[in-house]
Amino acid sequence: MPIAMVMHQAGGPEVLKAENIDIGAPGPGELHLKQTAVGVNFHDIYVRSGLYQTLPLPGVPGLEGAGEVLAVGEGVERFQVGDRVAYIAHGYGAYAEERLIKADNAVRLPEGLDDTLVAGMMVRGLTARVLMTDVFALKPSHTLLVQAAAGGVGQLLCQWAHHLGATVIGTVGSEAKAEQARAGGCDHVILYREQDVTAKVKEITGGKGVAVVYDSVGKDTFYGSLDCLAPRGHLVNFGQSSGPVEPLAMPRLAAASLTVTRPMLGHYIGDLARRDQVAAEFFAALQDGTLTPAAPAIYDLKDVGRAHQDMEARKTHGAVVLRVR
Ligand SMILES: NC(=O)c1ccc[n+]([C@@H]2O[C@H](COP(=O)([O-])OP(=O)(O)OC[C@H]3O[C@@H](n4cnc5c(N)ncnc54)[C@H](OP(=O)(O)O)[C@@H]3O)[C@@H](O)[C@H]2O)c1
Repeated sequence: MPIAMVMHQAGGPEVLKAENIDIGAPGPGELHLKQTAVGVNFHDIYVRSGLYQTLPLPGVPGLEGAGEVLAVGEGVERFQVGDRVAYIAHGYGAYAEERLIKADNAVRLPEGLDDTLVAGMMVRGLTARVLMTDVFALKPSHTLLVQAAAGGVGQLLCQWAHHLGATVIGTVGSEAKAEQARAGGCDHVILYREQDVTAKVKEITGGKGVAVVYDSVGKDTFYGSLDCLAPRGHLVNFGQSSGPVEPLAMPRLAAASLTVTRPMLGHYIGDLARRDQVAAEFFAALQDGTLTPAAPAIYDLKDVGRAHQDMEARKTHGAVVLRVR
């Protein structure tokens, strides 16, 4: 029987325990996958800790992965046995050796694209793409600020925005990450522990501020991000690595006619045709070298607790992947 990492209650990394699971046959519209690699996201940590109470318990966390199709359910026409696919699941369940999944959640992997790389980047890659297209239509003429520029989504955003021709300012927490951010296309890097981010952004932009800030850090950075915006600028707060943002008083936006969005990827890829297009753009960018992500940190499926600990301790940067043997 395949194993899955199951949690019976919220808590520390130790609540994730290996258990045998009975998969059963795929139902109508489903695929049976033998997984090769599973992605780990901050979302999973929030689910495990209880910050997000979105997984019915007992349950198997995990949003994304890649693998080979072992069987297809009735009515599935887009996939066949033996296909290599990657997916973002709507209903969790990725921390497992094998699983059933809705065929509509999967996309076929192009020949030559490494499933270990993609499995840990489906959420981050598609997020980066919709942030710079659907959420805020980034143009070559724009100057943008990316908080946590060496992070998983951050580095993809910087590389893609740089390739587009925009001027990229990134914040990072260490000199090692600064080097990585520069190599990844940041025109200006701010070490936020040593430098005043708002003052630096104003200096770089000749006092104007930036057109858009992409902020995944949340609590610690949100109000500073607002201060970095040019009049009519847009703050995209898409994460909360440092904790949930304190409630916003609307008059705060009137000071410079600012707008704020709090996007969630799922709401931007609900339409299958759009999701397939965004995935295709992501795969193409990986294959043509527009995106050159750092190699993922790889753990065994049973070591997922350690992966969570390392992410929370900021020891990882970039994708985190569970290898399924
Ligand atoms: N809205 C969506 O649909 C969506 C999709 C994907 C991800 N997200 C969210 O985006 C955020 C980033 O995800 P990611 O996977 O790309 O992670 P990540 O950026 O690789 O990791 C978080 C980074 O944030 C920085 N950071 C600053 N303060 C921190 C703190 N108090 N604790 C931990 N890290 C802190 C750290 O970089 P420095 O050391 O340089 O400060 C850290 O490496 C998460 O909150 C995630 O849930 C949202």
